Amino acid sequence: MTPAIRLHEVSVVRNDRPIVNHVHWEVWPDQRWVIIGPNGAGKTTLLRVAAAQIQPTSGQAVILDEELGKVNVFELRTRIGFASSSLASRIPNTETVLNAVMTASYGVTGRWNEEYDSVDERRAHRVLNEWQLGDLADRSFGTLSDGEKKRVQIARAVMTDPELLLLDEPVASLDLKSREETIRVIGNYATSPDAPAIVMVTHHLEEIPTGFTHALIVVDGQIFAAGEIDSTITSLKLSEAYGLSLEVEKHGGRFSVRHH
Ligand SMILES: Nc1ncnc2c1ncn2[C@@H]1O[C@H](COP(=O)(O)OP(=O)(O)O)[C@@H](O)[C@H]1O
Ligand SMILES: [Mg+2]
Repeated sequence: MTPAIRLHEVSVVRNDRPIVNHVHWEVWPDQRWVIIGPNGAGKTTLLRVAAAQIQPTSGQAVILDEELGKVNVFELRTRIGFASSSLASRIPNTETVLNAVMTASYGVTGRWNEEYDSVDERRAHRVLNEWQLGDLADRSFGTLSDGEKKRVQIARAVMTDPELLLLDEPVASLDLKSREETIRVIGNYATSPDAPAIVMVTHHLEEIPTGFTHALIVVDGQIFAAGEIDSTITSLKLSEAYGLSLEVEKHGGRFSVRHH
């Protein structure tokens, strides 16, 4: 087994400023990581390196055994599922939910063959059911609630059976009910034995699904803490990272935090 993500001394410099600064990080296939940290800490940038969307300015990034800068990123990206709000805006409102998910595999394979279409269609229905979108297959994307739209984005990202799944704030701005539903479905997926390596970015500890095994705390482009989730997301480390007196609790596999 080799790591799904291996970053060695990775920096990303923009406008002469390192927005990711000398990061060392490994993600193994059986691990589910959450990345937390303040706004502007560099979480999305780190995820975009992992998604082979951008290259480090310096250092070495090896994603699924391929080193960025030495590999055809278009091929590499077909092995990675990436859901972020900036990608979501590309789904046309008039597209049906089924098509929005199914076309993920056309993007990957470029095939328009009827025989494969039926395989893809069966798989798309299976993925939609798994993400509790089965009843919405024929609805147009534009008519969905925000929570349903977010789940369609994730369903699209897992449709191609990726070896690495990256989720950038998958439940941000959802109301409580859609947030909880989506967190539960991500948690179910994360704990299933054939799930790929998963990395999820969030601002809020309350949004960490059950089944996540590791955490990375990013502050000012640097890794502040990394490791097993329960020894990384602690009152002490979080208080230090945010410069606030914070108390972290965990109940039923879910985190909460209080300022005092
Ligand atoms: N392409 C870019 N050019 C210049 N600055 C950028 C660029 N992308 C991100 N930044 C800046 O880098 C910092 C980290 O951004 P980002 O990775 O989006 O943080 P986070 O996701 O943790 O909020 C922010 O200050 C952001 O404004
Ligand atoms: Mg971000």
